[in-house]
Amino acid sequence: MKVTVIGGGGRVGACAAFALQCGGLVSEIQLLDANQATAQGEALDLLHGAALCADQKIYAGDYAAASNSDVFLITAGLRRKPDESRLDLINRNVSLFQQILADIKAAGFKKDAIVFVVSNPVDILTQLAVRELGLPWQQVVGLGTMLDSSRFSSLIAQELSLATSQVKALILGEHGDSMVPIWSSASVNGLPLTGLPQMSSGMQTKLFDRTRGSGAEVISKKGGAGWAVAISIREVIHAILLDKQCILPVSSLQQGAYGVKNVCYSIPTVIGRKGVLDQIEIALWPREKLGLQNSARALQETFSKIQ
Ligand code: LAC
Repeated sequence: MKVTVIGGGGRVGACAAFALQCGGLVSEIQLLDANQATAQGEALDLLHGAALCADQKIYAGDYAAASNSDVFLITAGLRRKPDESRLDLINRNVSLFQQILADIKAAGFKKDAIVFVVSNPVDILTQLAVRELGLPWQQVVGLGTMLDSSRFSSLIAQELSLATSQVKALILGEHGDSMVPIWSSASVNGLPLTGLPQMSSGMQTKLFDRTRGSGAEVISKKGGAGWAVAISIREVIHAILLDKQCILPVSSLQQGAYGVKNVCYSIPTVIGRKGVLDQIEIALWPREKLGLQNSARALQETFSKIQ
């Protein structure tokens, strides 16, 4: 499988390429960036370690060379400042993103290609990609709340001294201020997290607030996320590549689950080689469902401003 990373010279793109290299499953990684020299530098640096990794082709390219990609991973874009919301980025990132979509279209792409959007505001840009590319909506996926869910689970495990890989706690809705913590299904090795004595409502609030603020916290401390977002990206790409049919909190165009349509955001979504195989409307607590509808409204309102 060939993955082209658009924005491969940036922090998120380069970290994602490294995660894919360490994963060793993707056969070809092409880095593409408006700043060609940086893409070449990152590709070269990765290539230098290739002998100690897997048999992968790693190089810097261009849109013409990208046309046979199985996955277009779009990480290019400006980063928000610590005090900006992801939606504030919209004005600055939409025109850049539209140019990327136009370039992909002009060079051509395979009929079964998957477009995987990571640039922010990710839900809005995913919806824009569905509208502009003419691909079936199932083939356009956004990173959505994958990273938030990983942050949530990792922070819960750290705070409660639990084994990190046993904690599963989802965040759904917008990858942004209106994200929704799904306590109803949060678990540690199958046991309900909310049943643990330490998990008071004050603790729940503390853990979710820290999670929601994590993006800004990392921006203020090191300029922006890199490693965790890269691992989240890899999880989705491997699910596509291996046709895993696993349920992931990724963003896709909603078809009516929880009463929501025509907006991209994250609900439990089955992912395989064809992209979105199903969107699952599983019973949630009423306040969680309301939270999702609230996220959908906020996103719809923003999207309407860019049409
Ligand atoms: C974050 C960026 C990737 O949450 O949106 O760190």
